[in-house]
Amino acid sequence: MDLTGKSALITGASRGIGRAIALRFAQAGADVALLARGASALEDVAALAGKHGVRTLTLPCDASSVSAIDAAFARAVDGFGHLDILVNNAGSVGGAGPFLDLTDEDWQHVLAVDLTAVARFLRLFGRHATARGSGSVVNVSSVAGERGCPMLSHYGAVKAAVNSLTRTLAAEWAASGVRVNAIQPGWVATDLTASFHGDRQASEALMRAVPARRWATPEEIGDGALYLAGDAASMVTGTILTIDGGMTAYNGGPALIDLLALGRIDMP
Ligand SMILES: NC(=O)c1ccc[n+]([C@@H]2O[C@H](COP(=O)([O-])OP(=O)(O)OC[C@H]3O[C@@H](n4cnc5c(N)ncnc54)[C@H](OP(=O)(O)O)[C@@H]3O)[C@@H](O)[C@H]2O)c1
Repeated sequence: MDLTGKSALITGASRGIGRAIALRFAQAGADVALLARGASALEDVAALAGKHGVRTLTLPCDASSVSAIDAAFARAVDGFGHLDILVNNAGSVGGAGPFLDLTDEDWQHVLAVDLTAVARFLRLFGRHATARGSGSVVNVSSVAGERGCPMLSHYGAVKAAVNSLTRTLAAEWAASGVRVNAIQPGWVATDLTASFHGDRQASEALMRAVPARRWATPEEIGDGALYLAGDAASMVTGTILTIDGGMTAYNGGPALIDLLALGRIDMP
């Protein structure tokens, strides 16, 4: 799990899952380039990461702009000399609701931030890493891309596309020494989900679908990213690592495990 001497670009690093990944990587010895829109939040994360004695760069950037991505990526490569790791984590949901109520703006927003930007970073990093003959990508998708996702059809669709890109590019780049994996989290307590985990009734309703009966922490996703990014996973590519407390393993139907909790599991 040691990343000493490696350099990583982490998108969406100002808070939530991206912040936790950046701090785990810095703790493991990686230089970290931190990208998000909010400059001052990035500076705060850089200050914490720097306490581990690693180099840090902050890259304020709106990932819905392709030209801004190109400029930020070039600054990261200039700053560190090269990049070993890309974490495609920045994401946003925008509007939520039934498919028929979603607006064109809802679709365009999620497509721009959660898919077009991811593809742009993959293109830039892929050229860089395949030319060097080594590199590792961790995309952050979602269990929303694994199954039907009522109320978040647009988000589920782009996350499924991120999983598809992960598998395809893993196959295309494996012979060049570049690995591509993804993490698909379930419910993680971050700003993105604050209106749910901050509401006891909503939280209890959502956790009924999670056999572990709790929210994941951003740090638990960070631990998965640390494994996939580094040499401990040197033969792992094209993998979608699910970190969801059993949510996708469980069929979601009437819950025998709930009857177990009530002591009612007598079956002839
Ligand atoms: N939380 C969950 O339950 C959950 C579950 C499954 C998957 N995920 C995925 O995990 C990733 C991180 O989510 P999170 O829960 O940590 O969300 P979050 O707390 O809302 O953080 C999102 C991060 O992305 C950045 N970001 C958003 N829009 C951006 C843009 N246009 N340009 C650049 N950066 C942007 C934000 O920074 P700025 O606002 O400063 O730009 C922030 O650093 C996302 O891809 C999300 O889809 C989350």
